[in-house]
Amino acid sequence: MIPPHIGIIMDGNGRWAKGRGLARSAGHLEGLNAAKRIVKAASDLGVRYLTLYTFSTENWKRAAEEVAFIFDLVKQYLCGELAFYRENGIRIRHAGDFSGLPPDVKQELEDAIAETAGFTGMQVILALNYGGRDEIVRAANRALAADQAGDGRPFSEAIFEAHLDNPDVPPPDLIIRTAGEFRTSNFMLWQGAYAELYVSPKFWPDWDKPDLMAAIENYSSRERKFGGVSE
Ligand code: IPE
Ligand code: IPE
Ligand code: MG
Repeated sequence: MIPPHIGIIMDGNGRWAKGRGLARSAGHLEGLNAAKRIVKAASDLGVRYLTLYTFSTENWKRAAEEVAFIFDLVKQYLCGELAFYRENGIRIRHAGDFSGLPPDVKQELEDAIAETAGFTGMQVILALNYGGRDEIVRAANRALAADQAGDGRPFSEAIFEAHLDNPDVPPPDLIIRTAGEFRTSNFMLWQGAYAELYVSPKFWPDWDKPDLMAAIENYSSRERKFGGVSE
């Protein structure tokens, strides 16, 4: 079964480059190529939502040059792929703190979101300046603001969820992390509560369609109980 929503923690760009005696930027560049391959593969396989963890709220700790290089790649990706999005009906969306993005990235992101808004194929959600804790705090503040005229009763999960970044997007069914790390690094903390986790030892720049298919096949063998018991 194809999981409707896959989230990917695309990790290992730096190690991929290091192993080749290259600068970290070379790893990010190859990482972009891997992202293009996997977006196409996921779309062809019939995935409905693909969330790509592209830059975390903690990645600002990196050297300014590395951060600038990553944002340059993101801009290239957003403005260079429009024909591909159109051909494949791919809709671009964003998760994360938009207000904290560099102005030029905001502009490209807004343009790509607007230009693909009517496309009805797979949705690619770029988690950019994204942190799960940050999203929860922003959602809590929005929920409080919305409740100002309300009765002050405690929020339900459903009311709270409606204030997350993309409330219409169903939670991820499968979360993949590459480069062998067994942690979420602040990815989709709320939505990922019942996601199936899959860790691949391969570095992200080496990822291709067969790796995605292997992850999906592994997912298909899982029994999802959501706290219930087997039939
Ligand atoms: C993932 O690769 C890309 C981002 C986090 C932006 P890394 O840059 O984290 O690669 P490693 O973990 O250093 O190998
Ligand atoms: C997670 O990778 C963030 C993204 C893939 C964008 P990191 O490389 O930042 O995570 P840690 O530091 O190893 O936990
Ligand atoms: Mg990393």
